[in-house]
Amino acid sequence: TERRIPQPNSREMPLITNVSDYEELARQKLPKMVYDFYAGGAEDQWTLKENKEAFSKILFRPRVLIDVSHIDMSTSILGYKISMPIMVAPTALHKLAHQEGEVASAQATAAAGTIMTLSSWSSCSIEEVNSSAPGLRFFQLSVFKDRDIVQQLVRRAENAGYKAIAVTVDAPRLGCREADVRNRFTLPENVALKCFEGLDLSKMDKTNASGLAAYVTSQIDSSLSWKDIKWLQMITWLPILVKGVITAEDARLAIECGVAGIIMSNHGGRQLDYLPATISCLEEVVREAKGRVPVFLDSGIRRGTDVFKALALGASGVFIGRPVLFALAVDGKAGVRNALRMLRDELEITMALSGCTSLKDITRDRVITESDMI
Ligand code: FNR
Repeated sequence: TERRIPQPNSREMPLITNVSDYEELARQKLPKMVYDFYAGGAEDQWTLKENKEAFSKILFRPRVLIDVSHIDMSTSILGYKISMPIMVAPTALHKLAHQEGEVASAQATAAAGTIMTLSSWSSCSIEEVNSSAPGLRFFQLSVFKDRDIVQQLVRRAENAGYKAIAVTVDAPRLGCREADVRNRFTLPENVALKCFEGLDLSKMDKTNASGLAAYVTSQIDSSLSWKDIKWLQMITWLPILVKGVITAEDARLAIECGVAGIIMSNHGGRQLDYLPATISCLEEVVREAKGRVPVFLDSGIRRGTDVFKALALGASGVFIGRPVLFALAVDGKAGVRNALRMLRDELEITMALSGCTSLKDITRDRVITESDMI
């Protein structure tokens, strides 16, 4: 008999109280192949685990007896005002989680008053998302070998009113996610890579152990270098963010190149295993940036306290990846809306209990890291 899955917040099930609850429910609800694709990391999954653990080693130094009856979490990103410093990272194939796919995620993100980044590997098209959801969006660009396709994607993002291009630089090849190999991960018939419509997907070898990964890898331009970032700047007037920088050396090159911002990321532990958590490298990059460009961070954010820690160490905002996918899987648009609301509420209470009434109060002295204890 089919296993009944309790509905979120029904009487049969305890209330969903944090975003990690969605992960457990999604694990119960999704086909194993899809859950593993979303949840998994590369090889030993050391970085995947470290992304969580690194946050747990940072502690607070709160100030008390400060009037925190009004808390303002709003901020400006590249000149656009958003309700909170928490944005949605680009993740592939939302239709594997829910039939409405990226449209539902975009609607929920807009309702939360923040920015969603649409992946180049999305299952709803740029235009579809644009016409069904209000709100501010960035477009994540994977640079394919076929530069005509890249130009077309950029042009479509511009025409659809996207506000920035986040070019992914930590994936010249796909990391080896062994669960996907074991599961022989392939796309179900009803889900397609929409942003990719120009390409002939029939060439994809579905019989191969990891047909999709092999296909994707074959399309990605692994010769990408800084000169291509310059080329991108020539073909678009949109600001360029580089996603996947984690060292001061690369931050310097990115700034010399004239990028509008840096998104620190280890791809949620899905690319090079044994990378440190981004939160552990944040200060190095922030020090190099010297306030010239904003530094954002993703990978492992699951709590409002994590967001606070990232801001205290110099981030201008954070992005979340998997929590959106899991909430989408469990409860569609309402799930994503609730996940964003829970993170927002957690950040608010963290600020109140630390004596911060606005984001500018979240300063370095509000946290203690391991390096402070030496
Ligand atoms: C990703 N990520 C990603 N990044 C990117 O630049 N383009 C993409 O298409 C995808 N696709 C993708 C799919 C899935 C299933 C996951 C989990 C992640 C990486 C993503 O943008 C982000 O860096 C991480 O997800 C952040 O880590 P957390 O929040 O998932 O821990």
